Amino acid sequence: SFQAFTFQATHLHAENVTAASLAERFGTPLYVYSRAAIEQNWDAFNQHLPAPHRTCYAVKANSNLAILQLLALKGAGFDVVSGGEIARVLKAGGRADSIVFSGVAKSKAEIEYALEVGILQFNVESLAELERISAIAQQRQQQARISLRVNPDVDARTHPYIATGLEANKFGIPMRDALAAFSKASQLPGLQVVGVDCHIGSQLTELTPFLDAMDRMLKLIDELAAQGIEITHLDMGGGLGVQYEDEQPPAVGDYIQAMLARLADYPQLALYLEPGRAIVANAGMLLTRVEYIKASQKKDFVIVDAGMNDMLRPSLYQAYHRVENSVQGKPLITKPVDVVGPVCETGDFLAQGRTLAAEEGDVLAVFGAGAYGFAMSSNYNTRVRPAEVMVDGDAAYLIREREELEQLWQHERLADFKC
Ligand code: LLP
Repeated sequence: SFQAFTFQATHLHAENVTAASLAERFGTPLYVYSRAAIEQNWDAFNQHLPAPHRTCYAVKANSNLAILQLLALKGAGFDVVSGGEIARVLKAGGRADSIVFSGVAKSKAEIEYALEVGILQFNVESLAELERISAIAQQRQQQARISLRVNPDVDARTHPYIATGLEANKFGIPMRDALAAFSKASQLPGLQVVGVDCHIGSQLTELTPFLDAMDRMLKLIDELAAQGIEITHLDMGGGLGVQYEDEQPPAVGDYIQAMLARLADYPQLALYLEPGRAIVANAGMLLTRVEYIKASQKKDFVIVDAGMNDMLRPSLYQAYHRVENSVQGKPLITKPVDVVGPVCETGDFLAQGRTLAAEEGDVLAVFGAGAYGFAMSSNYNTRVRPAEVMVDGDAAYLIREREELEQLWQHERLADFKC
């Protein structure tokens, strides 16, 4: 598949632009995305999933407007989890009727907004939410299209924080309650039941859990049909893994073909997918400059200008991200290296126990940073969040300015203390 970031001679490039020149021009830390990589990842899904099937990009993975814009231009659907994400999709030129709305805690205001703009469907996660959506839709004299998220109770065999299909977590309705929930949904006046939905977890590197979940969903769809509830589409969520280190996730085409094969006996069913990571993870890298190198007994610390507030995944999930110097041929540090940030937390690292060549002032690249990178960033330690750049061939577009300090406290007020 297309490689967004490659070494040409000794210099790391994003498409045709050197990482060094991007760091110079825009400063560090800097998120860099490749337009071609995003489009190619999107195309792989879209090609294998022709209408009436549908790919809805999971906005949470990376919600930068320019990325949503690229995907909207390609006719993408979107999976959102908040009113804010709906607003972003619309701002970026996405169509309201291409939006599916997931999430366990949709507020009244969010439901009203979604009905007002006319989203495609709600992925409903509880009985109480069914009632709430129905009541609001009825007040507005509308019918809300809904899918019910059912928890298939399969083990996604991924990190416990990102496994969502087991009974023990907060998402969806347990399989054993599903029939009753659908029958209730079909009686509520404000609702039109269209689908069955699930999402079993993220960064899955095997097909089996997806297919097991799908078999359970199809069995449920059969049972619903026997009760006169006609389902027209099956949303299998997101979750396809990517290669960060040496994982071998299934190819997009194989993943989709395996699922479509299961639908041979269901000509009425459209398959919806909600990929996030698989679209953007490997289309993004984080550039960070080495501030200091600090030797210690057993290992050396490469202290960089990006921290856990910029890129949380290593700290939160012990996630592995490949780190390399953007210029080859620098002196090798002989001890194992921890790449750590400026944040005052022991857990503030980007990489641990690596082999790395680096000197003060060098620009390092953290790969696989396009998904859940900027999206999970914060201002912890009063740090401005990084700029974001989209490279397209020889061109580089600034798609988010680096924050300014004053913006960080613009919503704060000094209290009018009485003494
Ligand atoms: N659909 C639903 C309902 C989801 O909850 C998610 C992700 C997706 C789709 C997209 O999943 P993907 O294709 O990206 O795996 N912050 C974590 C990942 C959390 C994923 C949450 N849900 C990480 O950095 O690994």
